[in-house]
Amino acid sequence: MTDAGEILAKVGKTKADATEPPVSTDKTQRSAGGSSGGALPQAQNLTDAGDSTPGANKFERIKAAKDGLVLKQELDYLAKIGWEAMDEADRDFRLRVLGLFYRTVTPGKFMLRMRLANGVITSGQMRVLAEIVQHYGDEGNADITTRQNIQLRGVRIEDVPEIFHKLHQIGLTSVQSGVDNVRNITGSPLAGLDPEELIDTRGLCRKVQDMITKNGEGNPAFTNLPRKFNIAIAGCRDNSVHAELNDLAFIPAFKRAGGAEGAEGAGEEEFSERRIGFNVIVGGMFSPKRYAAAVPLNVWVPPDDVVALSEAILLVYRNHGLRANRQKSRLMYLVDQWGIERFRAEVENQIGHSLETAAEKDEFLWDKRDHIGVYPQKQPGLNFVGMHIPIGRVYAQDMFDLARMAEVYGTGEIRFTVEQNLIIPNIPDSRLEPFLQEPLSERFSVNPDNLMRGLVSCTGSQFCGFALIETKNRALAFVKALEAELSVPRPIRIHWTGCPNSCGQPQVADIGLMGTKGRKNGQVVEAVDIWMEGKVGHEAELGKRVMKGIPCDDLKPVLRDLLIEHFGAIPKSTDRSTEYFIPPALVDEQ
Ligand code: HEM
Ligand code: SF4
Repeated sequence: MTDAGEILAKVGKTKADATEPPVSTDKTQRSAGGSSGGALPQAQNLTDAGDSTPGANKFERIKAAKDGLVLKQELDYLAKIGWEAMDEADRDFRLRVLGLFYRTVTPGKFMLRMRLANGVITSGQMRVLAEIVQHYGDEGNADITTRQNIQLRGVRIEDVPEIFHKLHQIGLTSVQSGVDNVRNITGSPLAGLDPEELIDTRGLCRKVQDMITKNGEGNPAFTNLPRKFNIAIAGCRDNSVHAELNDLAFIPAFKRAGGAEGAEGAGEEEFSERRIGFNVIVGGMFSPKRYAAAVPLNVWVPPDDVVALSEAILLVYRNHGLRANRQKSRLMYLVDQWGIERFRAEVENQIGHSLETAAEKDEFLWDKRDHIGVYPQKQPGLNFVGMHIPIGRVYAQDMFDLARMAEVYGTGEIRFTVEQNLIIPNIPDSRLEPFLQEPLSERFSVNPDNLMRGLVSCTGSQFCGFALIETKNRALAFVKALEAELSVPRPIRIHWTGCPNSCGQPQVADIGLMGTKGRKNGQVVEAVDIWMEGKVGHEAELGKRVMKGIPCDDLKPVLRDLLIEHFGAIPKSTDRSTEYFIPPALVDEQ
């Protein structure tokens, strides 16, 4: 049993420490009406009586006993006593409120999950993250995540006070990035660059993050949600954030001035009266038991109201969300229980005014782009380059090199995408050629093969205690082997995820692989369930499970078959390596 399982088993039986922590463990005061206002002393007071029986589930008890944010003031003490002497609920749960994930798989080491609104990071910030990772030698590396974020590995608790001090100096935070908090706010990766952009999402993502985290200092108003909460803000036409997977997502849509919907057939005059804003969808979620796309809230907001609406929805969820059963506490379950009309009415009540109804159509009109390659920006003479980062893994030297390249060729900016890749923007035409000749441009290709290009993988058993299989290294090995054997005519999105928690989003993939345990020759072995037909972009649709329990050792021919039958892949040769597809007689004749 690992991670949550361990916490469940151990809560209430935490170690008796010889020394007392320097800071009181009283409940952090939180506001009833938002990030300021009257204080409520206990987390469980925030919920409907029906679902908030104190101690109804053990995570609620951990949160009610002490807000994880309090550990910010106890970091020196925790660093001094070390990971082994810590209260286990602090170590395994509450520290995640500060972005620190104790990794049972690598005893003594933590993963540090940052926050990067809209996935934007500067070269200076990247360099500091590289230094942190470098300090841990072979044990240090970083993963770009499917929420346009970065997770640092190998971190030791004794270094955390200094690390947090450095992060503060460079304007970065990891606060509220784990457990029952709002995750990294995703936005269009081409915000401010795309010639066809409708809304620049960078400022909005930042403002929403600042509201939730009190400008990165930590905000007790939002550290005890019933469960995690994902927010995405899209400003382009291609749904590059997977809006439908989020608990709350903003989708660009036009309204006519005066409230009526402005859409097709509008004359010049009417066109000029159109206002751009967002249709709002809510309740998207994956969990081991349920995969649900977000549903329309029937609300349209102008960009200026995004922060207020996000806050109101979070408060409704915090105050009324279901807490008794953690398997049924994501926002969608509240929407199910109330119905969307009541949920909308409660949000209006919370925000204090009526909301406009949704525009009849939204502006998600294009297929999803992956942004890999070289493209002109809306600024004449400037380009952005999308680099493919195999399975999102980078090491300290890569991070230093990327920071240098962003500075030398661009303006020092780097952006992450939900495909675990990155973009370096603002490269003048005249600097493109030397950029592409940099050695790193070969490893982090701007033109990867079609299978590599669409590869995504969650963490897997190398670092994650939930994992049922190893994912990242296996994903790479499989793709390399399949690419050696097949010509694949177009990019195929293959997503690996190490367990049914689905962090690697197999349900949105062309081929999704979900870790499980299977049987082979009477032995329990690492295996996968296979998902297919996930659609992304303007016609986004979740995929379906098509096969169960395929042992990983037997997987390659199965994948090869699927690629040939469903995605037009063609075997490159008829030598022994392709004998699975070619009848032996034919092989023998050649
Ligand atoms: C429902 C139960 C879930 C649990 C208990 C869970 C737990 C975790 C843990 C422990 C990690 C850190 C692993 C590591 O990197 O060391 C992680 C990573 C992550 N999770 Fe989840 N997760 C859950 C569901 C989801 C879902 C539904 C999504 C979104 C679709 C998601 C998105 C992520 C992302 C983006 C990461 C970063 C690593 C990556 O890019 O794959 N998680 N999760
Ligand atoms: S899906 Fe991957 S990262 Fe998420 S909990 Fe499972 S193994 Fe860990």
